[in-house]
Amino acid sequence: MAGDVWVPAPAGPLALPHDEVHVWRASLRPPPSVLARLEATLSADERARAARFRFDEHRIAFVAGRGVQRGILSRYTGLPPAALAYREGSHGKPELDGASAGAGIRFNVSNSGDFALYALTLRREIGVDLELIKPMPDGIDIAQRFFSAPENEVFAGLGDDVRDLAFFRCWTRKEAYIKAVGEGLSMPLDRFDVAFAPGEPARILRTRGNPAEAERWTMLSLDPGSGYVGALAVEGGDWRPVLFDWDAAG
Ligand SMILES: CC(C)(COP(=O)(O)OP(=O)(O)OC[C@H]1O[C@@H](n2cnc3c(N)ncnc32)[C@H](O)[C@@H]1OP(=O)(O)O)[C@@H](O)C(=O)NCCC(=O)NCCS
Repeated sequence: MAGDVWVPAPAGPLALPHDEVHVWRASLRPPPSVLARLEATLSADERARAARFRFDEHRIAFVAGRGVQRGILSRYTGLPPAALAYREGSHGKPELDGASAGAGIRFNVSNSGDFALYALTLRREIGVDLELIKPMPDGIDIAQRFFSAPENEVFAGLGDDVRDLAFFRCWTRKEAYIKAVGEGLSMPLDRFDVAFAPGEPARILRTRGNPAEAERWTMLSLDPGSGYVGALAVEGGDWRPVLFDWDAAG
């Protein structure tokens, strides 16, 4: 989705129609006053986890990331940020729990570098992935470890000038799908192929073992800003993306 348009979110509570997928992008480097406000919304577990980070920059990114997550989810559930409760699916995918789950909001989150993406749907499975594009001198070796044989064939045929971007396109699309399914690394990464050659729209091309599975999902490439690439995998095809920029007032 080259040249995505990210707009400031309207103030106040937000509705999420079934045919929209809302994606928020946020900086994980807020000013100290905003960080303190976000930290005040975290649960005891989240604070304990924050306290275990050895490096300040990691602790700040975690606190900001979880605080922003609570602020965004609060706008869709109508509950205060600190009142939101989570549970984990069978492979650790976080979901809203208890009273927070009543609105049917599903979400998924990804962090990389200084940014996070938060993707939300109404009662559809969703996965999102964000990556900072880095030079990948060992990209071919890593691809051989993680990509499927058809994906490796495409990757090996690409020129040096497009290979790093293509690597992260493929990586984010595969991650978005395994995060949507929620199985994490228990799903073999060569069980499915994604489209990622330059100019090719994001798509699951085939899923081995269950060919109908590929049709169940729609993928979208996200352009979260210079130097980053992102991808979404969403159940069904009858939806459109709405892209919001988080800001401290929101
Ligand atoms: C969590 C996982 C699914 C993604 O991790 P990641 O890419 O390092 O991190 P991201 O920032 O994209 O996502 C982290 C978030 O995903 C969510 N998450 C955790 N487990 C999840 C699961 N099983 N399914 C979906 N989402 C999950 C959480 O909200 C987590 O946020 P937190 O760190 O605040 O708890 C990880 O277990 C995983 O499977 N990594 C795969 C790495 C890999 O080899 N990929 C190859 C791609 S080709």
